[in-house]
Amino acid sequence: MNILILGSGGRECAFAWKFAQSEKIEKLLIAPGNAGTAKIGENILLNVNDFEAIKNVVLKNNIQMVVVGPEDPLVNGVHDFFLNDNSLKHIPVIGPQKYAAQLEGSKEFAKEFMIRHEIPTAKYESFTKETLENGFKFLEKLEPPYVLKADGLAAGKGVLILNDLKDAKNELEEMLANEKFGEASTKVVIEEFLDGIEMSSFVLTDGDNYVILPNAKDYKRIGEGDKGLNTGGMGAISPVPFADEILLEKIEERVIKPTIDGLKKDGIPYVGFIFIGLIMVENEPLVIEYNVRMGDPETEVVIPRIKSDFVELLNATANRKLGEFNLKIDNRSATTVMLVSGGYPENYEKGKEIFGIEDVEDSVVFQAGTSIANDKIVTNGGRVLAVTSYGDNFHEALKLSYKNIGKIKFDKMNYRSDIGFDL
Ligand code: AMP
Ligand code: GLY
Repeated sequence: MNILILGSGGRECAFAWKFAQSEKIEKLLIAPGNAGTAKIGENILLNVNDFEAIKNVVLKNNIQMVVVGPEDPLVNGVHDFFLNDNSLKHIPVIGPQKYAAQLEGSKEFAKEFMIRHEIPTAKYESFTKETLENGFKFLEKLEPPYVLKADGLAAGKGVLILNDLKDAKNELEEMLANEKFGEASTKVVIEEFLDGIEMSSFVLTDGDNYVILPNAKDYKRIGEGDKGLNTGGMGAISPVPFADEILLEKIEERVIKPTIDGLKKDGIPYVGFIFIGLIMVENEPLVIEYNVRMGDPETEVVIPRIKSDFVELLNATANRKLGEFNLKIDNRSATTVMLVSGGYPENYEKGKEIFGIEDVEDSVVFQAGTSIANDKIVTNGGRVLAVTSYGDNFHEALKLSYKNIGKIKFDKMNYRSDIGFDL
């Protein structure tokens, strides 16, 4: 089978790695990919939001399935583009259509969906420039900390958590009146703060049935002890040690089933991954967000724990046969540690040569922000490499990742040495 993966991060590298293990793969293209995916399949240079360019690649290479990594093209309607084109509409796209992608693309849409289907989530109200004064009044009624969320996509930066009422009011005004996040903050959701421990569930649905993929916990802050700025993710662990059977059953009954049923009740077709960000408050799961894709770096621990053939799994998804699919999961733990460019998530330099990847033993290196220059692998982004290992428990797996990280070097390389510290 000929498959095209859209995206260029560690997530897409993990997809490519998993696909490459299938005997059913004939041609594997990654667009635009990175230096790691170039070794697994063939990279095609294009912009994932240039649908005409994607069409050309798909037709020229007789692509039989497209797997969408990031949210952007989904929110922009890449799946709809395929359905509306006579030469593409028979080709399955793994990833929801534009309407359903609002579950990630609009915080308000997601909140309304959760309320409609009685899915537990934080109380909220949403405001616009016109209702700014009401927003101030709503903040006055809440206890600190205050949670402000830009409605639209803001590259992971749209959520602000503020301890001080005055700061919260200022930020609300910045977002609504001064368009702090541009178009994304023309509407702002203000939410009750939830105090608890976070984890994520991953679901793959064919629109009718679903399978639950391994769960994971990621570490978003740049600094050790969960201090400092938010990043895309500095490491992840799967499975989440505190997620026992009782909790997992609650998550399935109260969150996953009502989500899938809710989509059906609302008549919203959905084929693809759903990444559900959860927060446990006194052992009760509440949803903090939906993403309409896999997480990064969560994918780098979730995918390695899937034993089933990935082509078969996604074919079953495309053909509405997930109900009959027997998903096999590796019982071992998997952990990943992200190696990032010094300065990330703020300014950082690119083009630094990376040494030592070939010396890594018993871990898998998923490349993220890398490219090839003069036949050398160089840094090309903030998050550069994800070093994933297996172990009988996450401590063992982490030990192996850190041991192998000792062999990798690039100028100003940074990483967190405390992944899993809170567990
Ligand atoms: P999001 O972009 O929705 O994932 O939010 C980013 C992060 O903000 C989450 O991973 C949580 O750590 C935090 N967060 C979001 N909503 C809340 C909330 N209602 N209460 C506490 N923390 C939250
Ligand atoms: N690691 C968080 C995300 O992918 O959104």
